[in-house]
Amino acid sequence: MNLLKLKIYICLFVLFSCSEDSPSSSNNNIDGNGNTNLNSDIIPHKEYSLDSFGNILDTEIMIEDFDSAATCKNCHEEIYNQWASSFHALSFNDPIFMSMWSSEKNSHPETGTMYCVQCHAPAAFVTGYSLEGINSQSDLKHSDIPNIIKEGVSCDICHTMVQKSPTVHTQDNIAAVAEYFLNPGEDIKYGSIQDPDCSANEESGAHSDCQYLPLFKSSSSCKPCHDQTIRGMPIETTVSQWDEHPPLAMFGPSCQDCHMPKIGSHSSHYFAGVDLLFYDGVDESSDQYQQVINLLEQSATIHLGYFDTVKDSIYIEDNILYLPITVNNLTGHRLPSGTPFSREAWVEIKVFDSEGNIIFDKGALENPYDIINHDDPDIILYTTILYDQENLEGNIVYEPSKALSYDDRTLRTLFYDSHQYQIEIENSLSGLITVKARMLFRSFKPQILNEFHPSSINNLPIIEICSDSVSVMIP
Ligand code: HEC
Ligand code: HEC
Ligand code: HEC
Ligand code: HEC
Ligand code: HEC
Repeated sequence: MNLLKLKIYICLFVLFSCSEDSPSSSNNNIDGNGNTNLNSDIIPHKEYSLDSFGNILDTEIMIEDFDSAATCKNCHEEIYNQWASSFHALSFNDPIFMSMWSSEKNSHPETGTMYCVQCHAPAAFVTGYSLEGINSQSDLKHSDIPNIIKEGVSCDICHTMVQKSPTVHTQDNIAAVAEYFLNPGEDIKYGSIQDPDCSANEESGAHSDCQYLPLFKSSSSCKPCHDQTIRGMPIETTVSQWDEHPPLAMFGPSCQDCHMPKIGSHSSHYFAGVDLLFYDGVDESSDQYQQVINLLEQSATIHLGYFDTVKDSIYIEDNILYLPITVNNLTGHRLPSGTPFSREAWVEIKVFDSEGNIIFDKGALENPYDIINHDDPDIILYTTILYDQENLEGNIVYEPSKALSYDDRTLRTLFYDSHQYQIEIENSLSGLITVKARMLFRSFKPQILNEFHPSSINNLPIIEICSDSVSVMIP
C-alpha cells in the first residue's frame, strides 16, 4: 500500500484510537471489509481429532490430498516465484527454526514435535505424518518426506481453507491445538477471484474447479497461525492486535492490504515482514530484501518534538537541551508484532556540537550484534521480554514455551510514544547544536542468535526505519 493511502487511514484512526487498550468489544463475525459471514455452512471440510499431546488420533486428511507448490508453477508462475522467496516457504526449511525446534523437542519430548509444526509445517500436523529423524535442514533435504511438508506454509494450506479458525490457545502442557478447516484433495481451490473459471484446467489434470470465498479478503484467514496465547499470555497475537483496534476491524486496512498489495493483476505473495535471509550475508539486490525495506520504511515515523506540535518544543535553557522525541506506529498491529520477543526496534540519537563532535548519544551500537541494555530507562526500545518465573522474575528466556511472565514494551497499534531527553550542554560550547535521530530495527536479538545460530551473528542486519534531525542555537 502506498504511503498516501496509509496517511489517510491514519487520520481516520487518530479519531478512534483513544480507547485502544480497553477490553475488546469487536465482533468476530465482522471483518475489515464488512463481510458478516465468513463461515460457510455449505462447504464441507475434512475433520481430524487430537490427543492431549497434540498428536493426531484420527484424521480424514491424507498427505496425498495436498498438491505441492511446484505443481502450481506452470500456471501461476509469478505468484509461485514470490511465494518461494517468502518466509512462508521457509517456515520449516530454516536453520533457526530447526535449532529452536530441537530445543523444544528436548524440553517437551511428548508434545514438542507437533507444537511447532502445527503452524510451521501444517501438512504434517493435520495428517499426523511422522517427522522422526528430522532435526536439521540437511536431514530435511535428504529425507523422502513429501514436498508439501518441506514447503511449510504452502499454497494448498491456504487455498484449501474454507472457514476461519479460532485463536490457538496453548495451555501449560505446550501441546498443539490448532483447528484448521481444510478441504484438500477435492480438485478445488478457494480464493479471492470473484467468478473464477477453472473449467479449462481439466485437460492438464490441475484443479478443475475454483471458488470465491470472502474469507480470503479478510484478516481472519491469517488467524490459524498469526494468533496464539501461551499459558493465557497474549505473546504472539498479531490478528487480535488488529481486531481489537475498532477502526482497523471496521474499515480495514486488512492484513492483505498491507502484506499482499496488488502487483499488476495479482496480490503479492512475497508476504514481506521483517525477516531477511541474512545467515550467509544479505543480498541487497534480492526482491525479498527490497520488499522488507519498503515495508519497514512505512512502519513508523520519528519526529523531534511532541506529537502535533512544531519543532520549537525543543529548546536550551540553563545549559540543558530539552529534546522531546515522538515515534508513531503506522502498522496495523503493535510494533514489533509477530514474535516481538525476538525483535528490537529502537531509537539511536546523536547530538553534535558546532564542530561536529558527539556530545551525547544513546542507542548507538558499534557492532550490529551488540546487546542493548533494556534496563536503561533512557533508551527508547520496543520489544517484549520473557521471564521464566512469574511477576517478571527469574531469568530472561527467548522461547515463549518457557515463559511464565512477560514484559510487553511494544508500541501500541497506530499509536505514538513520546520521550523527553534532558541533555547537559557544557558552558564552553556555543553556536549550533545538531540532533540526529534514527529509528532502527533488527529482526533478532543477538542473544537469540548466540543461542540458536551463532555462525550468522556477524551478518545480522540493522535497518533504518526513519529519521529526523534538527539544529538549535545555544542562547
Ligand atoms: C493448468 C493451469 C493451472 C494449474 C496447474 C493451477 N492452476 Fe490455479 N487457476 C488456474 C486458472 C485458469 C484459474 C482461474 C483464473 C481466473 O478465473 O481468473 C486458477 C485459479 C486459482 C485460484 C483462484 C481461485 C479463486 O476463486 O480465487 C487459486 C487460489 C488457485 N488457482 C490455486 C492454485 C494452486 C494452489 C495450484 C497448485 C496446487 C494451482 N492453482 C494450479 C489454472 C491453474
Ligand atoms: C497498515 C498496514 C499493516 C496492516 C494492516 C498489517 N500490517 Fe503487518 N506489518 C506492517 C508493517 C509496516 C510491518 C513492519 C514493522 C513491524 O515489524 O511491525 C509489519 C510487520 C508484520 C509482521 C512481522 C513481525 C513483526 O516483527 O512485527 C507480521 C508477522 C505481520 N506484520 C503480520 C500481519 C498480520 C497477520 C496482519 C493482519 C492481522 C497485519 N500484519 C496487518 C504493516 C501492516
Ligand atoms: C499464507 C496463505 C497463502 C499462501 C501460502 C498462498 N496464498 Fe494465494 N492467496 C492468499 C490470499 C489471502 C489471497 C487473496 C488476497 C487478496 O485478494 O487480497 C490469495 C490469492 C491468490 C490467488 C488469486 C488472486 C490473485 O492474486 O491472482 C491465486 C491464483 C493464488 N493466491 C495462488 C497461490 C499459489 C499458486 C500459491 C503458492 C505458490 C499461493 N497462492 C500461496 C493466501 C495465500
Ligand atoms: C498455516 C499457517 C499460516 C497462515 C495461515 C498464515 N501464516 Fe504468515 N507465517 C506463518 C509462519 C509459520 C511464519 C514464519 C515463517 C518463518 O519465518 O519461519 C509466517 C510469516 C509471515 C510473514 C513474515 C514475517 C516476517 O517477520 O518476515 C508475514 C508478513 C505473514 N506471515 C503474513 C501472513 C498473512 C498476511 C496471512 C494471511 C493472509 C498469513 N501470514 C497466513 C504461518 C502462517
Ligand atoms: C500458533 C502458530 C505458531 C506456533 C505454534 C509456532 N510458531 Fe513460530 N512463528 C509463527 C508465526 C506466525 C511467525 C511469524 C511471526 C513474525 O515473523 O514475527 C513465526 C516465526 C517464527 C520464527 C522466525 C522469527 C523468530 O521470531 O525467531 C522462528 C524461528 C519460529 N517461529 C520458531 C518456532 C518454534 C521453534 C516453535 C515451537 C517451539 C514455533 N515457532 C511455534 C507461528 C507459530
